[in-house]
Amino acid sequence: MKPLSKQTLAVIGLGLIGGSVATAVKQRSLCHRVLGVDLDQQALKIAKAIQVIDDYLPFADAVKAADIIVLAVPMLGMQQVLQSLAEVEGWQDKIITDVGSAKGCLIDATEAVFGEWPENFIPGHPIAGSEKSGVTAANPDLFVNHKVILTPHAMVNHQALSCVRQLWQGMGADVLQMDIQRHDEVLAVTSHLPHLLAFSLVDTLATERDNQDIFRYAAGGFRDFTRIAASDPTMWHDIFVANKGAVLRALNDFTADLCKLQKAVETEDSQYMLGVFTRAKVAREHFSKMLARRAYVEPMKQQEIRYISHPAGPLSGEIRVPGDKSISHRSIMLGSLAEGVTEIEGFLEGEDSLATLQAFRDMGVVIEGPHQGKVTIYGVGLHGLKQPPGPLYLGNSGTAMRLFAGLLAAQKFDVTLTGDASLSGRPMNRVAVPLQKMGAVINTEDEGRPPLRIEGGNQLAGINYTLPMASAQVKSCLLLAGMYAEGKTTVAEPAPTRDHTERMLTGFGYPVEVNGNTATIQGGGQLSACKIEVPADISSAAFFMVAASIVPGSELLIKHVGINPTRIGVINILRLMGGDITLENEREVGGEPVADIRVRAAQLKGIDVPEDQVPLAIDEFPVLCIAAANAQGTTTVRGASELRVKESDRIQAMADGLEVLGAHVETTPDGIIIKGGQTLQSGQVDSLGDHRIAMAFAVAGLRARGAIEIANCANVATSFPNFIELAKVTGFDLAVESAE
Ligand code: S3P
Repeated sequence: MKPLSKQTLAVIGLGLIGGSVATAVKQRSLCHRVLGVDLDQQALKIAKAIQVIDDYLPFADAVKAADIIVLAVPMLGMQQVLQSLAEVEGWQDKIITDVGSAKGCLIDATEAVFGEWPENFIPGHPIAGSEKSGVTAANPDLFVNHKVILTPHAMVNHQALSCVRQLWQGMGADVLQMDIQRHDEVLAVTSHLPHLLAFSLVDTLATERDNQDIFRYAAGGFRDFTRIAASDPTMWHDIFVANKGAVLRALNDFTADLCKLQKAVETEDSQYMLGVFTRAKVAREHFSKMLARRAYVEPMKQQEIRYISHPAGPLSGEIRVPGDKSISHRSIMLGSLAEGVTEIEGFLEGEDSLATLQAFRDMGVVIEGPHQGKVTIYGVGLHGLKQPPGPLYLGNSGTAMRLFAGLLAAQKFDVTLTGDASLSGRPMNRVAVPLQKMGAVINTEDEGRPPLRIEGGNQLAGINYTLPMASAQVKSCLLLAGMYAEGKTTVAEPAPTRDHTERMLTGFGYPVEVNGNTATIQGGGQLSACKIEVPADISSAAFFMVAASIVPGSELLIKHVGINPTRIGVINILRLMGGDITLENEREVGGEPVADIRVRAAQLKGIDVPEDQVPLAIDEFPVLCIAAANAQGTTTVRGASELRVKESDRIQAMADGLEVLGAHVETTPDGIIIKGGQTLQSGQVDSLGDHRIAMAFAVAGLRARGAIEIANCANVATSFPNFIELAKVTGFDLAVESAE
């Protein structure tokens, strides 16, 4: 086959789309020659005059001269055009494609004309357009960064397919493939139904008697909603006829929902209305993320964010860091499963806890907010969740996936849990295996990696389980599953881990019996809604605790921080290193102890970190490594192999970064040895997309000889969305660069 640049293209039908294909190909010199065919002689003359095409010819001559033929005619005219094509000698050697928005009718027309599907005919559909029409609206950049869906037949000629693909890619489009029937269903809901509604709404208003006033005053909402009602009527008429079945199915669903909404407005059913509006708002806001998890769209390119942390200080001031991540996740989970309305304050609006919130919305729970940390949840009870419309996407959050595994293992419906690249590499057998022992049916990828596919309709039975590792996530997963199990579920842990689940279950009126290192829950109870105040996250405070400790002359007050005894390893370890940390205004808020933490600069010294402190500071080791690098003497961490399976292998990530900065570091399978006392050099490190590694190196920059550049920092938003602002307020010199 000749290279594309030596081929002749014939575009049949020079409307907006056909004209745009012609001019896009011609301007980019993708083909040797571009010919046009149209019934409208005037349009052909204009097309040639404005250089949309090189020339125009009668249909049969153009087909004979062409190597590739693009059929851009109205859909209901397609069969006639295919018939004329079949009458031209040699048509079988041409590569044929089309641009139609519905494909079902194309199958009928093609089979009627040719009998069987010609192997060189590759149906295509550019998802691009404009409310303008005609060749004068042709735009050479119409397809740039737009999707083009190809729906090749199973017996397709692969050379022809790759030629059509190359043609569209040359016009700047993102090309994807889809099954032809699926294409029509997807387009019915994403494009055809919205056009139908826009035409209908404008028509309803236009035929009102006072339409002058309506149109004169109808600004924003009307204009935004109805832009597409100015599209080409004939083309849309053809689309609705051609895709009648799928459009009617979509319209039926929509009409049923609209009737429910009408009822809700009539009866002032606030919960129903807020449910619809909040779900829709969030869905619209998270549109691109939601798209990213659908198979037919490529994942969104995440923004690359790079921090540059310059030496600075001293640090000073009073700050409040965002809400506790662990408690935020649990508040949404228990609030959703409770009877009644739960009010939350101080909720962490980070991507991880928002993923949990979105997942419950996907399962039919009405959740208002978050607005400045306030969330209202209309609980559905332990058995009120609905099957989500697709896999639950949990982003970067290991906590979400493991806790969800427990509470979804005994639902009536099947569900799949997925996540981003980091989460997709994390071990899930630690929850899948004990849940299977309880009677759950859960499938994972190789070596227990996500996605987790959980089968619905299985009755669980309580177990007595000793955790092989100190993990609050696994403990919590089993306690949540235990609410649904027959009998008692008892979990024993090898060392104390955070006990937020036990405390919060008790707060929701579901008793948990804690005895030494075991926690026991009896199935069959119920949760009652309550008020929750989420304290500030000690794991986020830790970055400022280390920062103020290592920069001479610093003094910071970090307010309202959760100081649950199972979380204060970072305070204990820094104090053992000589840190000057005092707790003020200690109090209890909603079952969790809270204090303001005052940190003053101090000369730190290296220590052997007591192993019993490791689970109590499990998330704080990245920044504790920075404390160790700035301390006099050697710090040794042991018994911390769990760090290797966090959002990154945190032992290796910290060792690699610190080595780049000139520190002496040795790793062991379960820990790290850091020789402190030397000022860190400037350099470039990689956070590997791990939020805590990124923030730890930002802290390191305060005391380095020069700037530290940290790559892959976008995930700081998972736990600490306003880290940069707060860091600057206290005296950090931090710059942020971003690129697509
Ligand atoms: C968490 C428990 C910890 C911690 C994670 C949050 C939780 O994980 O690292 O950030 O909310 O239960 P493991 O329990 O697996 O160590």
